[in-house]
Amino acid sequence: MAFSKSSVLLCGCIWDGATGVRSTNDEVRKFPDGFLFGTATASYQIEGAWKDGKSENIWDHMTHTQPDVIEDLSNGDVADDSYHLYKRDVEMMRELGIDFYRFSLSWTRILSSSFSDRVNEAGIAYYNDLIDELLRYNIEPMVTLYHWDLPQRLQDLGGWTNPLIVDWEVCYQGYGDTTKAPILNFKGIAEYLCAKNLLLAHAKAFRIYDEEYRGTSGGKIGIALSGSWYEPETDSPDDVEAAADSFEFEVGKYAHPIFSASGDFPAVMREKIAAKSAEQGFPRSRLPQFTQEEINYVRGTSDFFGLNHYSSVIVYRNESVKGIHPVPSFYDDVDLASYQREEWATAASSWLKVVPWGFYKLLGKIRDSYNNPQIFITENGFSTYGGLDDDDRVAYYRQYLSAMLDAIEEGADVRVYTAWSLMDNFEWMAGYTERFGLYEVDYESPERTRTPRKSAFVYKEIIRSRELDFSYEPNTSVMTIDEGH
Ligand SMILES: *[C@@H]1O[C@H](CO)[C@@H](O)[C@H](O)[C@H]1NC(C)=O
Ligand SMILES: *[C@@H]1O[C@H](CO)[C@@H](O)[C@H](O)[C@H]1NC(C)=O
Repeated sequence: MAFSKSSVLLCGCIWDGATGVRSTNDEVRKFPDGFLFGTATASYQIEGAWKDGKSENIWDHMTHTQPDVIEDLSNGDVADDSYHLYKRDVEMMRELGIDFYRFSLSWTRILSSSFSDRVNEAGIAYYNDLIDELLRYNIEPMVTLYHWDLPQRLQDLGGWTNPLIVDWEVCYQGYGDTTKAPILNFKGIAEYLCAKNLLLAHAKAFRIYDEEYRGTSGGKIGIALSGSWYEPETDSPDDVEAAADSFEFEVGKYAHPIFSASGDFPAVMREKIAAKSAEQGFPRSRLPQFTQEEINYVRGTSDFFGLNHYSSVIVYRNESVKGIHPVPSFYDDVDLASYQREEWATAASSWLKVVPWGFYKLLGKIRDSYNNPQIFITENGFSTYGGLDDDDRVAYYRQYLSAMLDAIEEGADVRVYTAWSLMDNFEWMAGYTERFGLYEVDYESPERTRTPRKSAFVYKEIIRSRELDFSYEPNTSVMTIDEGH
């Protein structure tokens, strides 16, 4: 397939089904000056040491009381044992030559009763040691304040009362469905309450930082939102509207209150949910309202648009959509159906199809919808079933980085790219069956031995050269730490 660059830019849909090599893949492409590369992990997925002074979080609780909800009946009790092996983790980051490391704080490790009365000194020491080790080698810490491991004690009080929550995706999957802890499955109600509280909690964390710590720390604070690309099946008005609605319900739900000029939930969400709620006999909308004061409080509370992106779906809306979703539910409110194309290459995770042009389109949509914000890609990556020769992962990273460069050339202000993940880890409901690591982790060995995959060598070269060269073939026999790291 050979498409000229301009035809790709004018019509990304030409790529449909052609996610393989593009003509432009022959040229070596440069990343912009000052562009930063990193990798990411999350506390429950890697730390292990689930007891050492730590209280129980919703993942400890769920995996211990209902082990069969996890595909391989596993849990994060030991995971990658990064609690003890963090020096090796930082050594791997030096091998890769990354600029920053995104990791999350486990509040049950820091607060030994899950409340703020008792601090677990061992937990504080762990994060201090990790941060010191990063700074020793000029690796900038990017701290996620919440990555799904809510203290169980707070969950017992209804969850989402913690004011330091700065990540998302908890709401639908954990509150409106059973695909993440705490598997409440309170469809069409709980996820909206969660969304509102999450936004208020995020805004509060932002404002505390902004007012009390920004001057002394010189850091940045923002929110990471998960977003797929929603492609209309056809160019019929119904499908086009369905795709636009999908974006507003999935991404706009959090992005509009923070990044739009007017704030609040997107108008289409407010209108559709209010209308459905009235039809269903609810005296008021299931979507909670913000007061004007709350709208102002939440609006503008992010220094950058953090985006976790992996894949795309096709959406459509016609008569056949009626009645396929539970009532009430989030998906009944959005009112459409979605699927992924058979011909799209797939990762080990069934939902993760390779659609780089979707990434390109999503970045353009964010640029146009929210006045061209600074974008940090906070997660992007590919799962396999394991093995060091991960050519599929290499291809995914190259194609997605190339699509990102297309979006940057069109004016999207992307500053930061974070590969998910540094190493294999506990992949939530999939346990250890799906592997996202640049480094393979041997879960049979007590040392949890970490070995670089081919993708680690390729990512290292991208970071070293600040270039994307599809023809580069690494020598994978020895991993070294380069000068300056
Ligand atoms: C709705 O669209 C889907 C997907 O294209 C199609 O399979 C189905 O036949 C359509 N149904 C109606 C009633 O138009
Ligand atoms: C790869 O590197 C090793 C160690 O430096 C070297 O012995 C080997 O010849 C290299 N292989 C290739 C194909 O260049």
